[in-house]
Amino acid sequence: MNLIEVAKKRYATKKFDSGRSIPQEVFKQIKGLLQLSPSSVNSQPWHFIIADSEAGKKRLSRGTQGVYSANEAKVLDASHVILFCAKTDMDDDYLQHLLENEDKDGRFPKPESKEMVKKVRGFYADLHRKELQDTQCWMEKQVYLNMGTILLAAGVLGVDAVPIEGVDVKVLNEEFDLIRQGYTAVAMIALGYRDEGDFNADLPKSRLPQAELFTFLK
Ligand SMILES: Cc1cc2nc3c(=O)[nH]c(=O)nc-3n(C[C@H](O)[C@H](O)[C@H](O)COP(=O)(O)O)c2cc1C
Repeated sequence: MNLIEVAKKRYATKKFDSGRSIPQEVFKQIKGLLQLSPSSVNSQPWHFIIADSEAGKKRLSRGTQGVYSANEAKVLDASHVILFCAKTDMDDDYLQHLLENEDKDGRFPKPESKEMVKKVRGFYADLHRKELQDTQCWMEKQVYLNMGTILLAAGVLGVDAVPIEGVDVKVLNEEFDLIRQGYTAVAMIALGYRDEGDFNADLPKSRLPQAELFTFLK
C-alpha cells in the first residue's frame, strides 16, 4: 500500500450514496481505531456517539440545521456517523481511573512504574489545569488527532468520509445530554460511499506547495 496514493484518493465526500452501508467487519476496524488512537499522556479524553440507523442519524442531524444545513444530507445519507465528544474536565478521579485501567492492562510490571506514570500524568494535567488553564483546548486537540486517524484509516479501508466541524455543538449537547455526563460535542465524521453525482469526487486536490511547508535543517 502506498499511503500517498491513499491520501490523494481520499477526499471530503459531499454526497453519499444512501443505499450503501459499510460492512460490519469494516466498521469494526474503525471502532477499534477510535479506541486505539494515541493521546497525550494516554488521557483518552473522549466519547463517541455512533449512528447507523435512520433514527440515530436523524437525531445527529438536529446538529446540522440552520446555518449548518449544508451538512444535513451528508449526515442523513452516510452509512455511519460518528459524533466525537471531548471531556469537559480532567479531575483527579479520572486520572486515577486511567491509572487503574493501565494497571489492569499490565502496564506496570514494576510497582514504581505506576507511581512514575501517576507523577508524569499529574504534571501534564496540572500544567493544563493550573498553569496554562487550557484543559478544554488540550482535550479537544486529542479528539482531533483521533479524527485524523479515522480519516486516513477510512481511505485505507476504501471507505469515503467527510469530517464535519460545521455542527451546532449546543444543540448536540442538549440532544444527548452531554454536559451533564461530563462531555461536549466537538465534530462529526460521516462515513459511507460516495454518490456517483458527488461534484467533489473528481476535482483535483489542492495543497500549498511543499517548498512553502517544510524547513529542513542542515
Ligand atoms: C476539522 C475539519 C472540519 C471540516 N468541516 C467540514 C464541514 O463542516 N463540512 C464539509 O463539507 N467539509 C468539512 N471539512 C472538509 C474540508 O473542507 C476538506 O478536508 C478540505 O477542503 C481538504 O479537502 P480534501 O479533504 O478533499 O482533501 C472539514 C475538514 C476538517 C479537517
